[in-house]
Amino acid sequence: MLVGKRILLIIGGGIAAYKALDLIRRLQDRGARVRAILTRAGTEFVTPLSVGSLTGDKVFQELFSLTDENDMGHIELSRDADLLVVAPATADLMAKMANGHANDLASTALLATDKRVLLAPAMNVRMWLNPATQRNLVTLRADGVAVVGPNDGSMACGEFGPGRMAEVPEIIAAIEALINGSAAGRPLTGRHVVVTSGPTREAIDPVRYISNHSSGKQGHAIARAAAAAGAAVTLVTGPVALPDPAGVTTVHVESARQMLAAVEAALPADIAVFAAAVADWRVAEIAGGKIKKGAGGPPTLAFVENPDILATIARRTAGRPGLVVGFAAETDDVLGNARAKLTRKGCDLIVANDVAAGTGTFGGDSNLVHIVTSDGLETWERQSKDAVAEALVSLLARRITAS
Ligand code: CTP
Repeated sequence: MLVGKRILLIIGGGIAAYKALDLIRRLQDRGARVRAILTRAGTEFVTPLSVGSLTGDKVFQELFSLTDENDMGHIELSRDADLLVVAPATADLMAKMANGHANDLASTALLATDKRVLLAPAMNVRMWLNPATQRNLVTLRADGVAVVGPNDGSMACGEFGPGRMAEVPEIIAAIEALINGSAAGRPLTGRHVVVTSGPTREAIDPVRYISNHSSGKQGHAIARAAAAAGAAVTLVTGPVALPDPAGVTTVHVESARQMLAAVEAALPADIAVFAAAVADWRVAEIAGGKIKKGAGGPPTLAFVENPDILATIARRTAGRPGLVVGFAAETDDVLGNARAKLTRKGCDLIVANDVAAGTGTFGGDSNLVHIVTSDGLETWERQSKDAVAEALVSLLARRITAS
């Protein structure tokens, strides 16, 4: 329920704007009070009169309107709400938000707010898949903006694919999760969580290295989810093409030994999650100059084993984090190997995933994981890496609170 909660609904210009009318109704059914901003493009799809009749309030439209500003200035409008919801969120509104534009009432309210923002994107499939929109989405997520949908489906323009606005019940569920989730208290408040992410790079000479596949998406999502749950988060990451998550202390490293040193420097911690794909070996001696092709043929590289960061931290007698979580990236016998890893490395929980060719786990946005502990096994359905991160963080929050 949303009794007494104040929602500022920003209605953008898209055919899905008609669903915003039903959304207002359903929010009111749950006890929420809804105020609406209608963008200029939004007025092409729904009228201020229909929106205002439902909200029972003035519909805010103009940034420089004397009456709007007198009734309630844009700063006050955006702060006098528990949550801002943008539905439909057009490609243009997302681009403005990602770049901090403030040239109309909607974008100004979004930039001026100190509250959480939920977007329900709706647009043509090509516009959604366009690299510019996807880039904006990554930026907005990293800024802590929540997103529901879009769904796959056929569109008003006759094409099929992702871009349909989430259905009203899905938007309501997302709103309730955001409002009640924060009201329920952020379960990791006062806790320190250390997360490793991305690959490590082990230099061969000044121009070459060996490394592992890892986009860092899952580890970064865990850092974001832990921060959203109220934790102070230190993210130790190898080289990735992802932005540093907002509200997280991010330490950039290259090699496994640097990663271990950064993790040790970040302790003490309540929870440590080792999601990095650490290179198991490094070359015994890094060449000082570039190794040249020559008469001697290809060089022979001698390797030495890298420290196991997870095992080193899990086996600490003094200052071991309360919960130590490892990942197991396996191509064969996923569960057998994960169980063996749990014992061998001395951690409390292993998140096992199948990374065999064709699973799409590496670099992809979804993940199918098994949670392996000494007393059991849970298999979670395939879901987005963000959803895996949120579910893992709430599981860890429950465990750390119970311990
Ligand atoms: N890990 C680590 N330091 C290493 C190697 C691995 O911290 N030097 C951590 C990873 O972050 C992950 C877990 O150990 O949480 C398992 O990594 P994985 O590569 O699956 O296991 P390996 O130790 O490499 O074992 P194996 O080679 O037997 O698969």
